[in-house]
Amino acid sequence: MAGAAGSALVPITARAAAQEAGAPSAQDPGLPVDVTLHVNGKDKRLHIDARTTVLDALREHLKLTGSKKGCDHGQCGACTVLINDRRVVSCLTLALAEGQEITTIEGLATDDHLHPMQQAFVDNDAFQCGYCTPGQIMSAIACVKEGHAGSDADIREYMSGNICRCAAYPNIVAAVKQAAPEIMKG
Ligand code: FES
Ligand code: FES
Repeated sequence: MAGAAGSALVPITARAAAQEAGAPSAQDPGLPVDVTLHVNGKDKRLHIDARTTVLDALREHLKLTGSKKGCDHGQCGACTVLINDRRVVSCLTLALAEGQEITTIEGLATDDHLHPMQQAFVDNDAFQCGYCTPGQIMSAIACVKEGHAGSDADIREYMSGNICRCAAYPNIVAAVKQAAPEIMKG
């Protein structure tokens, strides 16, 4: 990453706190940087403003528009992606993420086969308008892998960061329960 300020994911809040505390900044954050993002198994070379979020890098620069921008404030979960298999709200994560494996909704299906969680959402009618659905599915996969799909209450608790304005929650819980055994089998 030529001239980038860092090589790890940098939560915006942490970065702002460091700057307020007088930590030296490697360069003017308004200057563009070269960064290679590893997205859905492929390297993507970008020349972007150092302040670009992962969400904007995906949607605006890579045209991967599956991840949705809802609140842009880390409160709705619509932008959830997996980074190194952990769920993150991509609207609050800077794109200076070389070496990190980013998985988006576009990276789940293989050939003609939906991911088990995608199939479970279809089978259980777990979406209405579909706007929150990519974030719900990414979060649901992580929820299962974290071991938090043991009961309806657990699923509701650990999916509570993903808001659905259509209130498809009962069907989402049913979808997570359906997909969990298959995902845990690997
Ligand atoms: S758009 Fe990121 S949490 Fe709402
Ligand atoms: S399906 Fe419409 S917001 Fe969730």
